[in-house]
Amino acid sequence: MAGPVPSAGGSPARNPLTRLTLPELRQRTSVKWRMHPPDVLPLWVAEMDVSLAPAVADALRGAIDLGDTGYAYGTAYAEALGDFAAQRWGWNSFRVDRTTVVPDVMMGIVEVLRLVTDPGDAVVVCSPVYPPFYAFVSHADRHVIEAPLGPDLRMDLAALDEAFRRARQYGRRPAFLMCNPHNPTGVVHRRDELEAVAELAGRHGLRVISDEIHAPLVLPGAHFTPYLTVAGAENAFALISASKAWNLAGLKAALAVAGPQAAADLSRMPEEVSHGPSHLGVIAHTAAFRAGGQWLDLLLDGLDTNRTLLAALLAKHVPAVRYHHPEGTYLAWLDCTALGIDTEQPDGQPGVASDVAGPAKVFLDRARVALSSGHVFGTGGAGFVRLNFATSPEILTDAVTRMGRAVESMM
Ligand SMILES: Cc1ncc(COP(=O)(O)O)c(C=O)c1O
Repeated sequence: MAGPVPSAGGSPARNPLTRLTLPELRQRTSVKWRMHPPDVLPLWVAEMDVSLAPAVADALRGAIDLGDTGYAYGTAYAEALGDFAAQRWGWNSFRVDRTTVVPDVMMGIVEVLRLVTDPGDAVVVCSPVYPPFYAFVSHADRHVIEAPLGPDLRMDLAALDEAFRRARQYGRRPAFLMCNPHNPTGVVHRRDELEAVAELAGRHGLRVISDEIHAPLVLPGAHFTPYLTVAGAENAFALISASKAWNLAGLKAALAVAGPQAAADLSRMPEEVSHGPSHLGVIAHTAAFRAGGQWLDLLLDGLDTNRTLLAALLAKHVPAVRYHHPEGTYLAWLDCTALGIDTEQPDGQPGVASDVAGPAKVFLDRARVALSSGHVFGTGGAGFVRLNFATSPEILTDAVTRMGRAVESMM
């Protein structure tokens, strides 16, 4: 862990995950803290228990003081991302004129799908995957085809090849919606894997849309490769946002980025899409990428500590649960199949993120710990839970201790 670093205000900066107490967090009104009764520890939806990065808070306060609460304008967000992407990921070919601001990542994905696919066309996803990939894609009248991850939880190129072939037969303009880093497994795709995806997509004629919302959250030991820097990805799109890494989901904004051969498609994005992001969102996200790097580094240290702590806690309290060490994100994908809990899925489609069944239901009912239920992530998810470890070590310890007691009570 890095030692304390002086913050802009002169006081030593600390791990952002340890600044707020549980009673303070319980005052929050967002879905994480209000969906369940107050005796439940919420480790489900992807919100973090952090205090805001000072650079972001200052930018927002400045806007409020000025009454700068009108409509968003300009390219400051894309410029800030471009500088961040060059510094952190060596993405020197990033071009501001191949970006557009969109309301958020999921709406951006839907708008890009409208540009490069037609209703009824197929969209391939690697299951298990972020549930809204199912919900938004099918709501946009596209057909989801699954290419399940391999047993190592990485993309399975043979399964992708097969899914791309089926997608091609299914629709005229198919696409692959990729998640990099992958939610819920925390896998960060390597350059060689991305090159293989580009080769397959080129061969089968699929357009690739890469959701890179978790990109700044790559933990020590892994390296993030932007898909658009990979050979063969010239006609692809990426969706990027400060929303996950700086906890800004309530301040809506994101960027759609086109590769050089997708610029003409991006220019067909209807103007009204850029009316969706909030001006305060754009201000906050710009400040995050421009001046939030030091805060991000402290956060990444805290998450790295938590992912190791989680391994120790699970080994001690719930040793039957298998933990796949995430390379990025703050999400842990826990294999609970050895607990022998009935994982029969409730009726309905994957994609309803708040549905709770199987192990997640047992942990909610008996441990009073809210986790995301694996079955909503699609094929391969039943019997798993997703645990959000972007919280304090105390809350994490309390949660896993409770989970251990719940499992004991089942014996
Ligand atoms: C992979 C992924 N994409 C998109 C989102 C949602 O982003 P937004 O709120 O910008 O639509 C999330 C949120 O957790 C996510 O994990």
